[in-house]
Amino acid sequence: TVGMSTNIVWHECSIGKLERQNLLMQKGCVIWITGFSGSGKSTLASMLNRQLHCRGHVSYVLDGDNLRHGLNKDLSFKAEDRAENICRVVAKLFADAGVICTASLISPYRRDRDACRALVPDSMFIEVFMDVPLKVCEERDPKGLYKLARAGKIKGFTGIDDPYEPPMDCEIVIQLKDGKYQTPKAMAEQVVTYLEENG
Ligand code: PPS
Repeated sequence: TVGMSTNIVWHECSIGKLERQNLLMQKGCVIWITGFSGSGKSTLASMLNRQLHCRGHVSYVLDGDNLRHGLNKDLSFKAEDRAENICRVVAKLFADAGVICTASLISPYRRDRDACRALVPDSMFIEVFMDVPLKVCEERDPKGLYKLARAGKIKGFTGIDDPYEPPMDCEIVIQLKDGKYQTPKAMAEQVVTYLEENG
């Protein structure tokens, strides 16, 4: 088929995952943060990586908004492009390299998130759900995008006129406390505790 790679051969590298893990003294994994725009995904990703870094871990953040400035800039927010956006997230490669990789994307469709999960060994995929009601995200509206979506100036905005499917069974749920956002530190500690307790 035109545009598809043909006549390609897989090359094995002489250094394996275990050797990389031993060198870094950590296991690579994917921490997949999903939730509405304004639910605090990027805030958590940033603080989590600060805490991991301070503990001497090699970590990296892949953020939906940022990826859409480069690698994924050709993609829209239609369902098929959101799926492509997510499958292009190279978190699996980072995890294989031994890095603790945080992917922070709305990733609204369950099947797309499950497809990413299927790419890595079981315990290496940790799904984190930002369980923040749409109403709260909309009140916060840090980028003013909900306002534009309500005014019909952005079409297909998640939660307004596009779907979001919350996880049914994920590793970590980040909830509001007394109806308010938790501090970034508290949210990140919840994830770090999970990582420590699960090796
Ligand atoms: S997705 O659904 O996973 O492909 O989205 P993602 O790559 O994470 O990008 C989400 C950011 O894009 C901005 N934006 C929109 N979000 C949702 N729906 C529509 N139509 C849309 N248009 C632009 C918005 O700033 C999102 O940023 P976050 O960080 O989630 O607030």
